[in-house]
Amino acid sequence: MSTSAAQAPADRPTFVRTTLDLGDVLLHPWGRAIARPDVMLDGLMAAAADPLISLWNPLATAGREDALAWLEARDGGWDRGAGASFAALDAADGALLGSVSLRWVDREDGLAMIGYWVLPNARGRGVATRATKAVTGWAFATTDARRIEIAHAVGNEASCRVAHHCGYLPEGTLRASHRFGDGVHHDEHLHARLATDPEPADPTAPTAHPSGTA
Ligand SMILES: CC(C)(COP(=O)(O)OP(=O)(O)OC[C@H]1O[C@@H](n2cnc3c(N)ncnc32)[C@H](O)[C@@H]1OP(=O)(O)O)[C@@H](O)C(=O)NCCC(=O)NCCS
Repeated sequence: MSTSAAQAPADRPTFVRTTLDLGDVLLHPWGRAIARPDVMLDGLMAAAADPLISLWNPLATAGREDALAWLEARDGGWDRGAGASFAALDAADGALLGSVSLRWVDREDGLAMIGYWVLPNARGRGVATRATKAVTGWAFATTDARRIEIAHAVGNEASCRVAHHCGYLPEGTLRASHRFGDGVHHDEHLHARLATDPEPADPTAPTAHPSGTA
């Protein structure tokens, strides 16, 4: 992965607008200056209309004005060093694939939270896993993040797989902890990764099982 920082961090090790290059996928900071804004606004509106995203990660981007306000809010997060929100773009044609967002929960304590969504036609090919892994590594390398959390509804197994593949260890179940897009407070699994945790193994690598086990 290669990176290019748009500006040097000052004396505070927080998020600084950066493009992360994963080869076939580019993670580009969300904001008003993003390339092809009309295509991005269409993508945000499509994401808001997707049943899985509207259930597990509802977006206030149903209309063009809302999507524009969402983009501006992401810019504000970068400007304040409060959040790092990346569009995942197809490196070949710039199409929007998904999004990964990191935000401080307690900046002084180095505690952050990460979330993601991927458009339906880009799912199942590792976009969320690779993007989340890259943003996690970048955050640990360039900020004073100490611990990053993922919380997902217990029923959201795809998100659980992403957390697992990215080295976020399961820490337990939070009861009725978050109201999701269906208006119901679901239990959530809490996962977290510490800066001192080892890099997760490549999920595409073959798994060695002792003989006689599945
Ligand atoms: C969760 C989400 C981001 C995954 O994106 P993705 O790019 O398809 O993820 P990846 O391809 O990196 O990995 C998906 C993993 O989930 C698994 N998966 C996909 N659908 C699944 C399902 N219905 N049940 C169980 N596992 C599922 C895949 O098999 C894969 O795991 P594996 O590699 O062990 O086989 C995407 O499904 C999504 O946008 N969902 C709606 C929004 C959301 O849930 N966001 C997270 C909120 S916490």
